Amino acid sequence: MCGIIGYVGSRGGLQVGVEALRRMEYRGYDSAGVAIADGTGNLIIERKAGELANLEAAIAVRGSGEFQGSTVIGHTRWATHGSPSDRNAHPHLDETGKIAVVHNGIIENFAALREELLAAGVELKSETDTEVTAHLVSRAYFSCPETAGNFVESVLSVVRGLVGAFTLVFTHADHPDTVVAARRSTPLVVGVGEGETFIASDVAAFIEHTRNAVELDQDTAVVARTDGFEVLNFDGTPSVARPFVIDWDLEAAEKGGFPYFMLKEIAEQPRAVSDTLRGHFIDGRVVLDEQRLAEQDLREVDKVFVVACGSAYHSGLLAKYAIEHWTRLPVEVELASEFRYRDSVLDSSTLVLAISQSGETADTLEAVRHAKAQKARVLAVCNTNGSQIPREADAVLYTHAGPEIGVASTKAFLAQVTANYLVGLALAQARGTKSPGDIAREFADLEAVPELISRLLESVESVRELAQRYSESSTILFLGRHVGYPVALEGALKLKELAYMHAEGFAAGELKHGPIALVEEDLPIIVMVPSPKTHPILHSKILSNIREVQARGARTIVIASEGDETVAPFADHLIEIPSTSGLLQPLLSTIPLQIFAAEVAQARGYNVDKPRNLAKSVTVE
Ligand code: M6R
Repeated sequence: MCGIIGYVGSRGGLQVGVEALRRMEYRGYDSAGVAIADGTGNLIIERKAGELANLEAAIAVRGSGEFQGSTVIGHTRWATHGSPSDRNAHPHLDETGKIAVVHNGIIENFAALREELLAAGVELKSETDTEVTAHLVSRAYFSCPETAGNFVESVLSVVRGLVGAFTLVFTHADHPDTVVAARRSTPLVVGVGEGETFIASDVAAFIEHTRNAVELDQDTAVVARTDGFEVLNFDGTPSVARPFVIDWDLEAAEKGGFPYFMLKEIAEQPRAVSDTLRGHFIDGRVVLDEQRLAEQDLREVDKVFVVACGSAYHSGLLAKYAIEHWTRLPVEVELASEFRYRDSVLDSSTLVLAISQSGETADTLEAVRHAKAQKARVLAVCNTNGSQIPREADAVLYTHAGPEIGVASTKAFLAQVTANYLVGLALAQARGTKSPGDIAREFADLEAVPELISRLLESVESVRELAQRYSESSTILFLGRHVGYPVALEGALKLKELAYMHAEGFAAGELKHGPIALVEEDLPIIVMVPSPKTHPILHSKILSNIREVQARGARTIVIASEGDETVAPFADHLIEIPSTSGLLQPLLSTIPLQIFAAEVAQARGYNVDKPRNLAKSVTVE
């Protein structure tokens, strides 16, 4: 998730660009850059790895006088392809230095396009998927008879051939009055001013200049000029655009209209899951392209260890259920902070899955080092490109949740579960423990999840009401069986860290071995109920567990699949989630728990983005 800006008008391009990037820095801060068309046939470009301040310092060294011109494109990066470095920072240029591009998203067919360009003798200067588009537009503009000299047609001819999700914004030194953008599946909004047009990832970039905005359809291009803009389909025909007036203030705009980043991140979960799946199933096979472990390496694995902390650890517990079920490999899941202090048995046939959103967590990093010292192969599942854990691991599979600002893991957790399941399917494929047909069905079920999450997010009002009702409780318990158990742990962790309320998650069958002594009149207990269709035995067992706590006066909040008609008598409050396969239910059942915790925290007057005593990255052991 990157922030991008394009501007044509009469203001100073440098100032407009840098201010817009400041407003969107929360979208990524691996690097920042601008390119300005100076109106005399040149592009002036500066880009720097790290936060926006580094770009500003580099501009200050050159002197802002060097950056004359009104037309600007700019970018603040959340790295996906290529480490966060000056060389990979956007904008990227073509070989003539006349055309520059910024990009948000992932171009899935970039490897083939890169090969094509290399074979044609083009020198690529970065490791990004983005740079190829600058060269392709350049070839269309300078050498292709059908599009020669036509900037807009050149861009359209290139985006028609791209696979994946992208917003691309191009500027051309010889067309300083025009910026051309194209989008598929990633955000792009147009800001309409008097004699000026803005193109940006979100309205925060231009809200101080105009509140008149335009929303675009999928697969559309925008040609922005000082005197207005045109919206086109990729085939060049006019497209529909929907004007709207922004009624947020600046702070709300940065958070997409949500009061907290965490709530925005909860809403972004359909995209986090779909972006993490994108490009990983090609020609009927699961492909872990970012991985660097050969299929043969996966075939040789005889045991899996999962190491992680906090929510990432809970995602690892879920991985155990899926990997063991699909591959028949033994899986151990261990808190990273405990792993290296005992004599865990690993060798070169052990695959260690190290899961970390930040890629910087000290406990997980030390666990990776410990595993490598014992010759195990380490595969990192990570959300932060170029961070330390993927750098030290043998291989990495990136989650594509985008930057998570709220301290509580939400979209990163769902993306981790998704990526872990991809690892499970890749292992099953390599070992032949699942047929290609079964793997295709499992992947299709995963692909259906984002739509189910969107549906669930539209019907969570009752969770908010429940949160208000139970916000003054002193303790809340969470129960689950099978994959519902890690979800119970995750729900309890969310409530503890955000609402500072005592909460515990238990395996429901374990209750009668001790924790049931905690149950008293009116104690709220949240229970994850598996679908009777996928897990009939577990379903009836957990209903018995509910009966046990109800008999002792507990108030039950039950999370169950739509269509489960047997569950209603067991629920003081029923939260229904869409039906899916048993292993995938956590990708849905976790969401009401995230919302519940956030709402209880707000009702208690706490800042849900910055809970006390916590930090987003824990870089000490
Ligand atoms: O960056 P990591 O995924 O390695 O972080 C691990 C935990 O610190 C993290 O998941 C933490 O538990 C979250 N704040 C929970 O919401």
